[in-house]
Amino acid sequence: MSEEVFHSPKKHGRIMVLLSGRGSNFMAIADAVSAGKIDAEIALVFSNKEAAPGLAAARDRGLQTLALSPKDYPDKVSYDQAIIREAESRNIDLICLAGYMKVLTTEFCSAYQNRILNIHPALLPSFPGLHVQQQAIDWGVRFSGCTVHFVSAEVDMGAIVLQAVVPVLQDDTADSLAERILVEEHKIYPEAVRLYFEGRLEVRGRRVFIL
Ligand code: GAR
Repeated sequence: MSEEVFHSPKKHGRIMVLLSGRGSNFMAIADAVSAGKIDAEIALVFSNKEAAPGLAAARDRGLQTLALSPKDYPDKVSYDQAIIREAESRNIDLICLAGYMKVLTTEFCSAYQNRILNIHPALLPSFPGLHVQQQAIDWGVRFSGCTVHFVSAEVDMGAIVLQAVVPVLQDDTADSLAERILVEEHKIYPEAVRLYFEGRLEVRGRRVFIL
């Protein structure tokens, strides 16, 4: 069977960011866009939480924002359909999950296959899920880090675009390790988005080649 190959588009892209909290990764991407390092614009910053600080930061930057509460929808599928409609009406090329703490439905993942990126604060496939800095400490690993990956229906398991490594120190707490990892997140997430719109990501099965 021939393997399906995906090439990211070389174009001026339209990005939608999904976030649930602080939004520091969103801001790292927004800064790279403003600095002209990424050939794209942030067309919408979306949150499942009206009070997310990241949403306020987006408004302060003059970006369009939208919050929809899952409580206003009968189920996850219709909630995600509402988000997809917002993305489609804005011709979004790439969705960046930036601390978006809801799992996307299979329908969402397939509608935007190869068009959703996520950042995760561990070296996947180790430590998927939540509270992963504490998990890394408890496991006793010497190194952890972060991963930018494409989003597929299986949570935290999509094809890996970039990773960065940080040491785990003996006196680390979850917070101190998270802080060290975050510094790297802010480097590799904008870098992955830059490569995406430079048309330089080639996805072959599980592997992503940087052209
Ligand atoms: C980041 O550390 C990100 O990697 C993590 O949430 C934090 C969001 O911070 N994401 C996940 O754990 C996803 N499973 P931010 O709001 O400041 O970007």
